[in-house]
Amino acid sequence: MHKMDQQITMSDTTHSSQNSPQKTPQAEKPWNGRFTEPTDTFVEAFTASVTFDQRMYRQDIAGSVAHAKMLAHIGVLSIDEKEQIIDGLAQIKTTIEAGEFNWSITLEDVHMNIEAALTDLIGITGKKLHTGRSRNDQVATDIRLYLRDEIDLIITELKRLQNALVDLAEQEAGTIMPGFTHLQTAQPVTFGHHMLAWFENLERDCSRFIDCRKRVNIMPLGAAALAGTTYPIDRAFTAQELGFEGICENSLDAVSDRDFAIELTADAALLMTHLSRFSEELVLWASAQFNFIELSDSFCTGSSIMPQKKNPDVPELVRGKTGRVNGHLISLLTLMKGQPLAYNKDNQEDKEPLFDTVDTLKGSLKVYADMMQHVTVNKESMREAAIRGFSTATDLADYLVRAGVPFRDAHEVVGKAVRLGIDSKRDLAEISLQELQQFSDKIQADVFDVLTLEGSVSARNHLGGTAPEQVRAAVIRARDRIKKTS
Ligand code: ARG
Repeated sequence: MHKMDQQITMSDTTHSSQNSPQKTPQAEKPWNGRFTEPTDTFVEAFTASVTFDQRMYRQDIAGSVAHAKMLAHIGVLSIDEKEQIIDGLAQIKTTIEAGEFNWSITLEDVHMNIEAALTDLIGITGKKLHTGRSRNDQVATDIRLYLRDEIDLIITELKRLQNALVDLAEQEAGTIMPGFTHLQTAQPVTFGHHMLAWFENLERDCSRFIDCRKRVNIMPLGAAALAGTTYPIDRAFTAQELGFEGICENSLDAVSDRDFAIELTADAALLMTHLSRFSEELVLWASAQFNFIELSDSFCTGSSIMPQKKNPDVPELVRGKTGRVNGHLISLLTLMKGQPLAYNKDNQEDKEPLFDTVDTLKGSLKVYADMMQHVTVNKESMREAAIRGFSTATDLADYLVRAGVPFRDAHEVVGKAVRLGIDSKRDLAEISLQELQQFSDKIQADVFDVLTLEGSVSARNHLGGTAPEQVRAAVIRARDRIKKTS
């Protein structure tokens, strides 16, 4: 029947239904009865959404099938009419998926395109499908169904990334790196512990998406244009058909609410912000100056002019794309802020930011999950950096406190020892006992147990601490937690 018109632009407004070549575009408008003049050609393209909302065709068809079943259930459609509609919609779906559907700008959006195609295909019965509903509750339903599917895919990718981080944490539970505050070497930590910090961020993100899904999965259908419908509809029947967990309680709210979309975008912006921070670390760590990690060649690019370069494009791009998603959140909030109840055409502007948010987030999660499975860890460089930064200074202070020195005094003693280390280019563990004792007579031979990197990390052996033993235990708990939320 229809052919795919790949090239719809704002200047292309022709509708070429092969079954009705004699119809003028104006004749196809559902509101034609009321209008005497045709739509301005530019306005037609300007107000259309089919170029982007066609991506919801699956949800639109599922919603129509459920609606038709409900209409038959309450006796508004005959069984035969219902069957014709369901068969027709199935054929249309096949045509769309074969890339042979002719999307027409004249028919404005995905909803009217599919409805018109159905009428082309099955005749007058197609025109009965829209009984007791409006595009206003239809579009709200489509978006919710679409986001419900996408949230499930997002969570799957998120878990894949979490698993990659947990595997890396297990593998590097005892690998020591400098921990930073102010990007200055602070105390030694284990690389596994650092990876699990990002796992925690993502775990909160995951729970936000799971929570958001509850508010997405509520059915607006039945609200019709804004006030409900005069037909004795059975909304519980339709909701069950579509797998909705609840039904919007208020028809005005049902057609105008886009909170759920804003909420999803906020969750996405926060998740992207986490990935952006993580990206910043990966970019630093992959530099020659840090040399903590190497990203696999398949996730990097080279330079066309500088042969030595290997650029961490993937983390850089994810960091960059975060700006886009944060921008979409502001777009959607601003889109809603001036709208009176109920539906306004402004709402059509919700889709592009929402779709791009979903695409950007899914892409970023996918590439991250793959990339983190192929990270090479340069244990030696990390270790050297931890030593160079006097990262066990706090351990020396704690040692003195345990020997009865007040913390402030201990802080000063350690400061002097660090000064000596800097001047003589030695790590604390390389300074002799006699030299250390000139700063405090409480320092004994056992001090070297705490001055080593291993001693330092192993001593932080409590829940949430960086000790390798704790990291291994946290890995086991993390795997359990991933399973619980699947
Ligand atoms: N394309 C529209 C949108 O995305 C569908 C709803 C149109 N409703 C209307 N009354 N014009 O919001």
